[in-house]
Amino acid sequence: MQTLQRTFSIVKPDAVEKGATGDILHMIQEKGFRIIGLKMLEINKQQAEGFYAVHASRPFFDSLTTFMSSGPIVVMALEKDNAIADLRKLMGATNPANAEEGTIRKKWASSIEHNAIHGSDADETARFELSYFFAGYEFCK
Ligand code: CMP
Repeated sequence: MQTLQRTFSIVKPDAVEKGATGDILHMIQEKGFRIIGLKMLEINKQQAEGFYAVHASRPFFDSLTTFMSSGPIVVMALEKDNAIADLRKLMGATNPANAEEGTIRKKWASSIEHNAIHGSDADETARFELSYFFAGYEFCK
């Protein structure tokens, strides 16, 4: 059974810099996602560290959080049946070298770090990530 689900996504600084935001939003909407929250902003290093706290012990943590605070990002709240898995499928593999044709990362990512887009990987992370960037009243009905 399909259930309506929310997920969270970020168009990362590399993709915003390339002017890919519009194309990525188009690809997401074409797959039937409803955008219920959307904003462009810049975060500082500390805010990026809070968002990626689950990766704090990874060797790439410092580089990842420096990158994520290096320029504008676009954060999104998305709604769809099976949204979490369907967005991850549309994003493609974390490493663009392994991303399938037709995915966002195949088209726009240039490396495992500069990989164009983030999407929540599970229900619990989606809840945390949505609430990190959005207050409840900001979601469209
Ligand atoms: P994201 O979906 O935002 O979640 C964590 C991010 O860490 C991931 O995308 C990549 O951008 C980054 N990442 C994962 N593995 C590596 C790695 N081996 N080296 C550098 N960055 C990585």
